[in-house]
Amino acid sequence: MTTPFVAVLMGSDSDLPVMQATLDTLDQLQVPWEVKITSAHRTPDATHHYVTDADRRGCAAFIAAAGLAAHLAGVVSSLTIKPVIGVPMEGGPLKGQDALLSTVMMPGGIPVATVAIGKAGAKNAAYLAAQILALGDSELSDRVKAERATNARAVIAKDADLQSKLGK
Ligand code: RP5
Repeated sequence: MTTPFVAVLMGSDSDLPVMQATLDTLDQLQVPWEVKITSAHRTPDATHHYVTDADRRGCAAFIAAAGLAAHLAGVVSSLTIKPVIGVPMEGGPLKGQDALLSTVMMPGGIPVATVAIGKAGAKNAAYLAAQILALGDSELSDRVKAERATNARAVIAKDADLQSKLGK
């Protein structure tokens, strides 16, 4: 039996500094992943081959990040029925608005779960993929819940710190 994993695709190495947040979050949650630079426009054959091969090897969810006229997530979704999460990259003259619309506005029947532009979206793509895998993995589910509790404690601690600096 193969271990389910998340495949993280990005259209360019210029997306990696933002998408590192996805890989780091998957690591925190101990979700196995692999990463691939491949483009819907520049390397269409390689994209097709990678997605169908990863699907066959046990990929449980795909995360696809691209900027500008971002068609990578949509192309991935056209090639698999595994869940596909799209992350619009914020580069370019339109600051990611172009990527957001071209990722989210998919025709009916070929869904892409689209997250926010940029780093928050990159993190949430990892959390969402982990939550999808957690449906069949109670230990992962516990790790996701623990991560939320840790994040909540950090906010409460920051507020306590602020209140004490203000002398309240
Ligand atoms: C997209 O074009 C990539 O995903 C990237 O966000 C953008 C710019 O790519 P580079 O010109 O930096 O390679 O396909």
